[in-house]
Amino acid sequence: MLTSELLIAPSVLSANFAHLESDIKRVESSGAKILHLDVMDGHFVPNISFGPAIVKTIRRITTLQLDTHLMIDKPDLYLEQFKDAGADILTVHVEACTHLHRTVSRIKELGMKAGVSINPATSIGTVKEILPFVDLVLVMSVNPGFGGQKFIETTLAKIKALSKMIIDLKLPTVIEVDGGIDTITITKVIDAGAHYLVAGNAVFGDGNIETNFSQLNAFTK
Ligand code: DX5
Ligand code: ZN
Repeated sequence: MLTSELLIAPSVLSANFAHLESDIKRVESSGAKILHLDVMDGHFVPNISFGPAIVKTIRRITTLQLDTHLMIDKPDLYLEQFKDAGADILTVHVEACTHLHRTVSRIKELGMKAGVSINPATSIGTVKEILPFVDLVLVMSVNPGFGGQKFIETTLAKIKALSKMIIDLKLPTVIEVDGGIDTITITKVIDAGAHYLVAGNAVFGDGNIETNFSQLNAFTK
């Protein structure tokens, strides 16, 4: 079970990869507890980022919880590799999984926390049956693939409805929201019921990592 406290999850997608270690240490020393890693394959999303080798490299330099978001087709082929790389939470997209229960069960068998993610156009009905088996639901508030996109306001109603569904079912499921979170949108997302708040551009974008993290983190207190 994950703790359903409010947490900022900095996304390294917007970090400076020329000094990734230093950027990660800077969020860690600013008080981050969790790091969001966006894996993209150029098929499920129109962008390619990094794979298990980079996750493994990051694992060696930080003790932060590694929240690994797979935006890839056929995730079943790679679950062991991400476990070996050191992922703590492994999240797959419902749109990419034909046998979602099997995929989630395997993630848990491997000893990781399991998450499922839904794109902005995907209904929360698609995760209802899997809710008792997952630790986390990741609601995309932009179309996945790129950092720095505009928050899609209509996802707020989805987050609220998902929060109600989880409470009604008396489940401990964590709600994570990803995309376009900044000092304006963060309050709306928290009010809607989100726990983990992914922020890429708003943390790393201008290089003022400590200030940016502290400003966002203040909303979680
Ligand atoms: C988008 C990724 C996000 C991304 C968020 O496809 O899943 O995690 O890094 O970036 P921002 O916070 O810049 O919207
Ligand atoms: Zn993400």
